[in-house]
Amino acid sequence: MERKDFIKKFAIGGSILLTAPVLFSGCSKDETLGEGGNNDQNGIVVDLSLPAYSALGTVGGSVNKGEIIIIRTSDTNYIALSNVCTHSGCTVGYNSGTTELVCPCHGSKFSTSGSVTNGPAPTSLKKYNVVKEGNTLTIT
Ligand code: FES
Repeated sequence: MERKDFIKKFAIGGSILLTAPVLFSGCSKDETLGEGGNNDQNGIVVDLSLPAYSALGTVGGSVNKGEIIIIRTSDTNYIALSNVCTHSGCTVGYNSGTTELVCPCHGSKFSTSGSVTNGPAPTSLKKYNVVKEGNTLTIT
């Protein structure tokens, strides 16, 4: 094999190796939920007994899971909202002291209902329904 042929084959092989993960990632299951979260036809199921959700053992605790933030608002109540700011897409966080969701990028704030309480975010965060049964939350 001549040097020119070798370089040509190497370039083609390298291109295939570099693009294969991108091509096959579209076929994989939604993995945004990670450990303890399953996404089935009935919604997202979260096992609260797993260490990944230990913050939800305390009122005011929150966990980001993919594009959803789960917040424990009382001994018996949990809420789930989109954690994607409606202004420019930064990830909002929960401030248990003020019971607001705050965007670190430009200061938007949201109530626990998802409503904008301080701009520049133009619209509310999407709110999901949460049902607790035993140690399991089902988010739909
Ligand atoms: S991205 Fe959230 S306020 Fe700008």
